[in-house]
This record gives sequence, structure tokens and C-alpha cells, in this order.
Amino acid sequence: TRIVVCSERKFSMEGIETENMVVGDTLSLQKKIAAIRAAGPSKLQVIADFDATLTKYNINGQRGQTSHGLLQQGNPEYDRKRQELYDHYRPIEICPEIPIKEKTKLMEEWWGKTHGLLVEGGLTFDDIRKSVANARMAFREGVIELFQILEEKNVPILIFSAGLADIIEEVLRQRIQRSFKNIEIVSNRMVFDNEGNLSAFKGKTIHVLIKNEHALDMAEPLHDKVGAVDGPDIDYVAMKQRTNVLLLGDHIGDLGMSDGLDYETRISVGFLNDKVNESLESYKKAFDVVFLNDAPMSGVINLLSQLI
Ligand code: TMP
Repeated sequence: TRIVVCSERKFSMEGIETENMVVGDTLSLQKKIAAIRAAGPSKLQVIADFDATLTKYNINGQRGQTSHGLLQQGNPEYDRKRQELYDHYRPIEICPEIPIKEKTKLMEEWWGKTHGLLVEGGLTFDDIRKSVANARMAFREGVIELFQILEEKNVPILIFSAGLADIIEEVLRQRIQRSFKNIEIVSNRMVFDNEGNLSAFKGKTIHVLIKNEHALDMAEPLHDKVGAVDGPDIDYVAMKQRTNVLLLGDHIGDLGMSDGLDYETRISVGFLNDKVNESLESYKKAFDVVFLNDAPMSGVINLLSQLI
């Protein structure tokens, strides 16, 4: 068996370790694995970010598109306007010097303007279908297997994204071609009028910094919605009783996705996609497990096999 050498001491991680996997504190991880395993699958839930976590960061040498990025309104002027907003606000999103309070206001502003342009410029469900069909987007290898294993064990997956729920659902429909009853999507959800035109967005805007708020509390108002991927069967009250969490994200901010939960044990997995040398130390501190180089999901599946 290989040994993971990233912590000060060396522990055998037989059955868990894969290439591209870095563990900062092996002993702590082993304790968490043992605790989750002892509690059983009925106590576990998975909370996952979507873009660049379930999907690949790079596709044939190019950055994979996000749910926002892939959307073509069928009105090039509005696609251009949204791109201009991206060019203005994206550097703000990733600038570490801007205080969080100020940044939160600016992110609200960005999401508000983008949603406004989507409504104003016109968007139909057919635009969504075509955009997804043409998108440079792919799931990490093994994502479907991961969903299947979780379904077999009745473990729910909450996909929490500051992107667009309707797009994520269409990606699942087109790329997976079967539905999973254990998947729920918490993201910005569109409202279409009787003619099939986008008329508004539902509920509170979920932007990158609001992912720090209560994921599950935000999910509840969406319970009455037209079903996610053929209708979820997720019961939020029961969900809150699942006090062990496997969290998957690609930004340190994604750790906030479990804030709404009074969890007992959480194993956090971070996919470090960019600026690996600069960020590895902070990712190792923040996440229990870090995967590098656009790793497939096989490492997470191995880890899961130790948990349930
Ligand atoms: P998330 O998928 O990690 O939750 O974050 C959503 C990303 O979407 C975020 O990094 C910024 C990006 N975004 C766009 O690309 N275009 C937009 O119009 C908006 C509002 C966000």
C-alpha cells in the first residue's frame, strides 16, 4: 500500500488513497471516517458544489463552462452585456483585498444585474436546452457511479450552487440520462410564464458569498417547486437529522455550505483546480482531503467506501 506523506507522521491509508490526493491531517481524517462509519448511512448526507467540483475544470486544455457561462440567450446583445458584467465583477469576486461586507454587496449587485438581463433579453427553455447541448462542460469521471452508490444506500445529495438550477437540471438530464431521486438542487431557480418565457427568479438570490448562509434553510421554500430531475423525494426534516456530512467543493468558501446544519462529523473534500502551488497549504488546512489536477471522482468513491 502507498503511504500519504503530507502530514508530519505517516499513516497507512490502504483502501483510501489515490493519486492526486493530499491529506493534511491523516489521524484526524481516520477518526472522522471511523465516526461516520459507526453511525451508518442513515446519518450521512452529501453536500456538493456543482461547477468545477462535480464538473471538470479543464476540458481539452480550455476552462470548462459554468452554468452561467454556458448560457446563450439567443440574443447576442444580451450575451455580450452579461459578458461585460463578468469582466467587471469576476476580478472583484476573486480579489482577496476587498472586505467581505463590501464584496457581498457587489456580488448581490452582479447576480441581480445578470438575472435582470436574462429576463429583459428573453430566455426560453429551448435556449437552455440548446445551450447545454453545445456547452463545454463535462462531469468528472465517476460522478454517475458516485450518485448510484449514494442512491443504493439511500444517502441524499444536496447540490448547492450560486449558478442556475434550471441549467444544472438540464445538464443532469442531458448528460446522465436518468434521474436520481436522492438529488436535490439548491440554486437560483427560474420562473417561466405560460408562453415559456423567463419572467422572474424565485426566492432569495444565491450568490457566491451567500453560500455561507444556511443551505438547508434556503432549500425549504423550494420544496413546492416543479421537480428537480423528475422530482426529489427529499424530506428536509429528515435531512437535518443526518448529522454526518461529506462535503465536496472547490473553494474554501464552499465549506460554508454545511453551516445550516448542526453536524456531528464532517469530512470536507476540496478540489484544488488552479494556482496549486500558491493555494495547497491553505487548502490542506481548510479541507480534510484535497484532490489536485482535475482528479476523477474515484478518490471520493474510495473514501465513501470507507464510510458506508
Ligand atoms: P458556484 O458555481 O461555485 O456556486 O459559483 C458560481 C460562479 O458563477 C461564480 O464563480 C461566478 C460565476 N458567474 C458567472 O460566470 N456569470 C454570471 O453572470 C454570474 C452572476 C456568476
